Amino acid sequence: MSQEALSNLLQENRRFAPPSELAAGANVTEAAYAEASADRLAFWAKQAGRLSWAKPWDEVLDWSNPPFAKWFVGGEINIAYNCVDRHVEAGRGDKVAFYWEGEPEGDSRVITYADLQREVNKAANALTELGVVKGDRVAIYMPMIPETAVAMLACARLGATHSVVFGGFSVDALKTRIEDAQAKLVITADGGYRRGAPSALKPTVDQAVTDTVENVLVVRRTGQDVDWTDRDVWWHELVDRQSEEHVPEAHDAEHPLFILYTSGTTGKPKGILHTTGGYLTQVSYTHDAVFDHKPDTDVYWCTADVGWVTGHSYIVYGPLSNGATSVIYEGTPDTPHKGRWWEIIQKYGVTIFYTAPTAIRTFMKWGDAIPAQFSLSSIRVLGSVGEPINPEAYVWYRQNIGAGKTPIVDTWWQTETGAIMISPLPGVTHGKPGAAMRPLPGISADVVDENAQSVPDGSGGFLVLNEPWPSMLRTIWGDDERFVKTYWSRWDGLYFAGDGAKKDEDGDLWLLGRVDDVMLVSGHNISTTEVESALVSHPRVAEAAVVGATDAVTGQAIAAFVIPRGEGDVDVEELRAHVAKTLGPIAKPRQILVVPELPKTRSGKIVRRILQDIAEGREIGDATTLADTSVMEAIKKALNL
Ligand code: WT7
Repeated sequence: MSQEALSNLLQENRRFAPPSELAAGANVTEAAYAEASADRLAFWAKQAGRLSWAKPWDEVLDWSNPPFAKWFVGGEINIAYNCVDRHVEAGRGDKVAFYWEGEPEGDSRVITYADLQREVNKAANALTELGVVKGDRVAIYMPMIPETAVAMLACARLGATHSVVFGGFSVDALKTRIEDAQAKLVITADGGYRRGAPSALKPTVDQAVTDTVENVLVVRRTGQDVDWTDRDVWWHELVDRQSEEHVPEAHDAEHPLFILYTSGTTGKPKGILHTTGGYLTQVSYTHDAVFDHKPDTDVYWCTADVGWVTGHSYIVYGPLSNGATSVIYEGTPDTPHKGRWWEIIQKYGVTIFYTAPTAIRTFMKWGDAIPAQFSLSSIRVLGSVGEPINPEAYVWYRQNIGAGKTPIVDTWWQTETGAIMISPLPGVTHGKPGAAMRPLPGISADVVDENAQSVPDGSGGFLVLNEPWPSMLRTIWGDDERFVKTYWSRWDGLYFAGDGAKKDEDGDLWLLGRVDDVMLVSGHNISTTEVESALVSHPRVAEAAVVGATDAVTGQAIAAFVIPRGEGDVDVEELRAHVAKTLGPIAKPRQILVVPELPKTRSGKIVRRILQDIAEGREIGDATTLADTSVMEAIKKALNL
């Protein structure tokens, strides 16, 4: 869609300058952009200096065999030492690493850096006793409990490569991942708490283990009954009796730290491989820069699940490398009441809060009155990740959670990029609602057309990364060819992220969603994100999902699904007119269906395929990947299907 449509969409054209106090004391200032572009490698070498290296590197970047990068070549480092021990050695052992909040109220734990050091050391010794050695793969299938972070750090300490599998995944998903990585050990729990009740994990592991798995290490979290075999070992029986001492070995900067599988739309899941030195450098720098993190005063909360990359980089490795005090919450936002998150912010005095647009829109739907019951005045930086944040949701977030004054960092990145790539800086950027703005210092991105030509300001195209970055994926586990083909083959020398984007008149970047989500209506490219944003900008719409449905006349026609906001019937004709007015007549949806819920994956992404089935009048396909399968019943009922 055109510039004209873009500027129409941006009716919300206020700019939000950083609060002067934040700007004056910011960790990173405007000067960082110039410094980094003057000498990108020197800039990253300086950031690597934030960490404690056992052996310095010989070369910052080896890019002699693209797209296979090596960062900090020859350097050696232990990630667990950097995330835990060095803070204790610096006299900060009593500092809280995690305020853990279980879902059942009153079930909480406080874990200091000294506690974490003891736990990680014991777990590393336990893994060694089970025969895990450097280079082995360990699958981690856990609820959101402190032992999950401990298990990851114990693997990192030993140089065993972890593969965390989201605790909501099915037997099949877990099994494929265990098989692909040839895991030797699975770490799990009997279960975890979700929506007010214990939900089981161990039975899934029992069905998913394959030949390579020698042991299953089980944390007792809920106390529910579990089946037991010879290969099963209780965490409290093995880990608790271990020595609290463990000497960390230094690992090569390119040693494989973790594999994390992304599903994508087709084919078997891709095992995204991240390594050691470059990864930790970039997650550490970005956590410090993007959130303006101050270790002495901030209380930081990222609401992601550790099973996603956001949890790896911004619950575990980034914050701990910076000596942060973080909140971890086990359960769902509406248990036992819809104000639970705000209650947690109030309880711990959270200052930096990082969540996803899908959550923000859910809170919008639940109403302003709920957060208004809690004191959120401690918050000074708000973050967003996972999908484009609609201007409407941005403004609601700033108004209702950020007291109308807190900067919002809309952070664009991917499992593959490992760390944040494009984002405002809270003490520098004059934020625009809905824009991810500029690549961070040290990062180089562009928007190009079909021929890999950079598009001028005011136009749209494909988002690409045109220089290697420290936390980039190194390959797809066991499949270099697929790595090259998937990410580097469309245009020579460019990493293609799969996202559409626009540069506005100031050259600032707006993400427009996956390019597969672009519709072709009467020969015009229309992004689903733009139509969704236009719908959500109407006061009666809480959330919207748009798909292109086959249409005899226009090729594809726009079908929209909306969740109403507030009481009473929604006037569908008024919504269609609203979209036409906002984006132009070409973007007017053919049909708008009012539904109570939308089908989403566990990570909150809308499953458009299912909506497309509905819009095209087909039998609804596989719904097993949904976070909540009962949503389909509710939708069918609302639409009389
Ligand atoms: C895809 C990556 C990054 C961790 C969570 C998702 C979309 C992510 C934004 C944003 C617009 C975004 C992109 C990207 N995305 N953040 N701030 N604005 N789009 O990781 O599952 O690997 O998904 O999420 O489409 O390619 P992921």
